Amino acid sequence: MIIRFLPALFVVTACSLVPASKSGREHYFLTQVKPVLEQHCDACHNGALPPPALNLTSKATAFTRSPSGRDYILPDDPDCSLLISAVQRGGTHPKMMPRTEVSLTEDQIGMLRDWIEDGAYWPAGESGTLRPQKSRENP
Ligand code: HEC
Repeated sequence: MIIRFLPALFVVTACSLVPASKSGREHYFLTQVKPVLEQHCDACHNGALPPPALNLTSKATAFTRSPSGRDYILPDDPDCSLLISAVQRGGTHPKMMPRTEVSLTEDQIGMLRDWIEDGAYWPAGESGTLRPQKSRENP
């Protein structure tokens, strides 16, 4: 009986990386998601005419659909989120993002997957406003 429960416990632990409370989710967004998007994506995906109309500046601009009709970020469903396809090695998207010499690390991709799987919490207001940041890889 105990042995039958162990695998289930493991799955619960592995899936609860993103904290459950609202303040925990906000902290996760601010410390994990926001810095990666600002450093690796917002140099191109911001402003009036971002390619291909994906503006990663705020929740309102980011939670949209691609011209082909797919959601960029579909809360709870990383596999159906075009943003994940675009950054994932071996993903379905032919042009890997970011379009620089480096791609995201496995940890960063996993972090974005966890974030979307947990509802893709993105706060409103100043804390949820992203601005391009220079990074070593993406000067
Ligand atoms: C150097 C500029 C640049 C950077 C940095 C960049 N992108 Fe893009 N992105 C583009 C361009 C240009 C396109 C349009 C498609 C193409 O030409 O590759 C695009 C397309 C996309 C698409 C749509 C793919 C599709 O199938 O329509 C997604 C999603 C995307 N980018 C996400 C990201 C994410 C997430 C990051 C950061 C990890 C990122 N991009 C970083 C330039 C960039």
